[in-house]
Amino acid sequence: MTSGQYRDQFHIPQVNGKDSIYLCGNSLGLQPKKVKEYVNETLEDWASLGVEGHLHARHPCPYHEFLTQSTARLVGANTSEVVVMNSLTVNLHLLMASFYKPTPDRYKILIESDAFPSDRYAVASQAKWHGYDEEDAIILWRPKPDQHLVDLEELEDILRVEGEQIALILVGGVNYYTGQYLNIPEITRIGHEHDIIVGFDLAHATGNVDMKLHDWDVDFAAWCSYKYLNSGPGSLGGIFIHDRHGEDLSVPRLSGWWGHNKTTRFRMRDEFDPLPGAEGWQLSNPPILPMAAIRASMELFDQAGIQQLRKASRGTVQYLFDALSTSEKIKILTPSNPDERGSQLSLLVEEDGRQLFDHLTKQGVIADWREPNVIRIAAAPLYNTLEDVEQFVSLVESYK
Ligand SMILES: Cc1ncc(COP(=O)(O)O)c(C=O)c1O
Repeated sequence: MTSGQYRDQFHIPQVNGKDSIYLCGNSLGLQPKKVKEYVNETLEDWASLGVEGHLHARHPCPYHEFLTQSTARLVGANTSEVVVMNSLTVNLHLLMASFYKPTPDRYKILIESDAFPSDRYAVASQAKWHGYDEEDAIILWRPKPDQHLVDLEELEDILRVEGEQIALILVGGVNYYTGQYLNIPEITRIGHEHDIIVGFDLAHATGNVDMKLHDWDVDFAAWCSYKYLNSGPGSLGGIFIHDRHGEDLSVPRLSGWWGHNKTTRFRMRDEFDPLPGAEGWQLSNPPILPMAAIRASMELFDQAGIQQLRKASRGTVQYLFDALSTSEKIKILTPSNPDERGSQLSLLVEEDGRQLFDHLTKQGVIADWREPNVIRIAAAPLYNTLEDVEQFVSLVESYK
């Protein structure tokens, strides 16, 4: 397949009366045209059937099950290991409630130093919740001096010294700022060597790179669906819990009725009987309106296949990388090795960065500006064509 092959399945935002050069799928993915139909279907069924729609709608409850197979394929999981629910930060907290189990000797959490702020707040608040001092309990995995990317040697060094005190590693699969795609299987292996639970925030990885979370033995992961998964602003997230943990019904968790055994849920018994697998972490009955949007998007991923998309993405991103590396204005923060990046490139523009960004915006580019001097762009292979990135490059080149 070629990059942008599914472009006509999406609404492309218009600027100055023509298609924008939309390179912002790392922030908010575009709307698949089918979303309206699928959301309307749920609205119509609700209007015409009321509560009867739970059983007799065209896609009856439990609606989240329509998303499970596609989600499992996307992240390389068994269907029992994934579920769509809640938002990302909420899910990170729920997962830490189960998998961050500090003891007086082992209570620290390792996170990358430029993690997305919400993750940093989440891990710090978990440590504080358990009575630990943030300064002491949070270990930052930093790039080497004057570098922007983290490396595994540094991680191994940290674990050699402090590994016995670390209870949890929680890092981004693809870093939101630099676009660095971390070596998930290696981090997991190294962490496990030190008996540490290893979890990932895959907000910038899911739908962007192909993964094998089950085979890589990742303990848990969470992601959102509004970036590469094109499911609408603030839409629901997903979680992965390895079967090793999911099948163990004694794993402590914060519980709600939707995590209870399906066959007895409506008998409304007092005692909680958890479902095996990731579904056992659900709290509430699923909101089907955002799920309808996710269903529309998942159909496109199923048709295209994440491996094919990843292949198509490599070509366009390499073109962008090669063309932009010759620019004197720009330093690319994202790794040059294609295996260490996804669809995103982060461009450090030290001189007049904001002016360049504003110029690109006026010319119809929709990208993402990070203070003080970084432009993030992503060529999402479902809808971004080679022409999009060629136009972007020529606009950068023509800027004086
Ligand atoms: C890496 C990462 N983690 C966490 C979040 C927060 O997500 P949410 O607002 O869905 O909790 C984001 C949002 O963009 C993100 O990019």
